[in-house]
Amino acid sequence: DKGNHRHFMEKEIHEQPEVIAHTLAHYLDFAGGGVKSFDTPIDFAKIDRLAVSACGTAYLAGLIGKYWFERYARLPVDIDIASEFRYREMPLTKASAALFVSQSGETADTLASLRYCRKEGVPIATIVNVRDSTMARESDGIFPTLAGPEIGVASTKAFTCQLSIFAALAVRAGLERGTLSPEEASSHIRALSEAPRYAAQALKLEERIEKVGRELSQVRHVLYLGRDTNYPLAMEGALKLKELSYIHAEGYAAGELKHGPIALIDEQMPVIVIAPCDRIFEKTVSNMQEVAARGGRIILITDEEGAVRASLDSFETIVMPTVPELIAPIVYALPVQMLAYHTAVAMGTDVDQPRNLAKSVTVE
Ligand code: M6R
Repeated sequence: DKGNHRHFMEKEIHEQPEVIAHTLAHYLDFAGGGVKSFDTPIDFAKIDRLAVSACGTAYLAGLIGKYWFERYARLPVDIDIASEFRYREMPLTKASAALFVSQSGETADTLASLRYCRKEGVPIATIVNVRDSTMARESDGIFPTLAGPEIGVASTKAFTCQLSIFAALAVRAGLERGTLSPEEASSHIRALSEAPRYAAQALKLEERIEKVGRELSQVRHVLYLGRDTNYPLAMEGALKLKELSYIHAEGYAAGELKHGPIALIDEQMPVIVIAPCDRIFEKTVSNMQEVAARGGRIILITDEEGAVRASLDSFETIVMPTVPELIAPIVYALPVQMLAYHTAVAMGTDVDQPRNLAKSVTVE
């Protein structure tokens, strides 16, 4: 049931404040500022490597998770696209564990990767939305996303719930490995507790984003840029645009621009930059100047301070609420999803069922 929404995707985008809150409450004790004692087959204090693998949007959630595990828990993470992982014969040591990410729990390549790890004899956990799925059954334990059924082929609320779990697990791992003090952990948990409220604020930007979406529906190519955890989010933005609007889009690390893709820049190709005003904001601004100098059109998704500090001659902004650094990719996921959605609606494509795609890819 779509309720009063035009598409399941629209409904699922709007459910995010609620399902993020619901998911986080399963893992974190907001009142006490600590982590709840939930079951995990992975002993984060004992392992020295975590192998994460998944496909599509779930893979991009894993890529953001890598930044968090390494930064907050000092735990090295290998992250792979499952269709590569299953054949690349990665050696897993006794001190490794494997973590899979899947909305459906049925994706063929991710399942095959899980079975590979089973043979290697390491503990296996899965961040999964469908609790009675094959992957859930074959894991040693699961971290459920409490997103509710996701019907739209484009993954939206499952993604932000996967990110919420990655953040919560990184905080837990940081505490268990002694790389975060209880005070630091509490401050991250406070930040996470605010994610649903900021997500709700981001939804209010819909009218503005709809206008930008109408403009995007006129172009053939789009480049998405970001740094740090917003780099995988740039790839997610590009993936969403491709699958929904069939516009050719690429997500790049902003710092890679001058190593090739800058050659593509001209007046015809908008560059969408995801850049909250954080400690590396100035670096991204200089990348934007390089784009502007070549006549590129910039759409900057940032916060108020970022909009002021970017001070370029001509660029468009989508101005987000100012959020703590940890939760930025969770909150900034919403404008990225809405942008793809409204571009597709403006083009008249089948938003909930894009051509050539299936919700759950159960064949190789
Ligand atoms: O069910 P899964 O999370 O394992 O699915 C993985 C991908 O097929 C999925 O995220 C796909 O990339 C989406 N259509 C992206 O919106």
